[in-house]
Amino acid sequence: MPQYFDAKPGVGSAVRTVTLTLPDLTVELESDRGVFSADRIDPGTKLLLLDGPDPTPGDQVLVDLGCGYGPIGYALARRNPDAAIWAVDVNERARLLCAKNTAELGNVSVMAPSDVAAGGQVDRIWSNPPIRIGKPALHRLLTEWLQRLRPTGTAHLVVQKHLGADSLHRWLEAQGHEVTRRTSRKAYRLLDVNAK
Ligand SMILES: C[S@@+](CC[C@H](N)C(=O)[O-])C[C@H]1O[C@@H](n2cnc3c(N)ncnc32)[C@H](O)[C@@H]1O
Repeated sequence: MPQYFDAKPGVGSAVRTVTLTLPDLTVELESDRGVFSADRIDPGTKLLLLDGPDPTPGDQVLVDLGCGYGPIGYALARRNPDAAIWAVDVNERARLLCAKNTAELGNVSVMAPSDVAAGGQVDRIWSNPPIRIGKPALHRLLTEWLQRLRPTGTAHLVVQKHLGADSLHRWLEAQGHEVTRRTSRKAYRLLDVNAK
């Protein structure tokens, strides 16, 4: 069965437009079948963009981990024109959409995981992570990216309560991260995860 995290979506294309509306910006983003939340901005993503913290001045590299068609990367880039945004996804169609949606901004690099320089360090990570890839794969993904955080860095994650937000919180703490539950609203939790 096709999944939104397939490298090459197994469903035909049917391009559509989704509106991202935030207090500070409104934009039409191109979306398509075979990518996550193709028909609307995911409510968890919206919560992360509404309640997520601003970057610290001086942050240079901000990551949109699992960028999909790019709502998080777009907002980060607009809000932080002097930072470099890395938007990373395994899904080729999502990467193409994200690149198109952020092209005018000039500070977004869209990458496959294999394009990311080994050892490259980052200041902040924002993610609505791909819970549905399963716990072992999710833990590997988060371990890899949390290791890239500079010592003062933080990852901001939004996770649905019924998809294991609290067990992920416990797992992150067991790995030695300080984790703060920033918000628990609607069906979601926002977790701020500090570098070790
Ligand atoms: C829950 S979706 C969020 C998409 C987008 N950020 C949004 O908010 O609409 C998670 C994304 O992670 C991507 N993903 C899955 N495994 C990944 C991996 N190993 N590295 C990077 N991205 C991955 C999926 O393809 C999917 O686009």
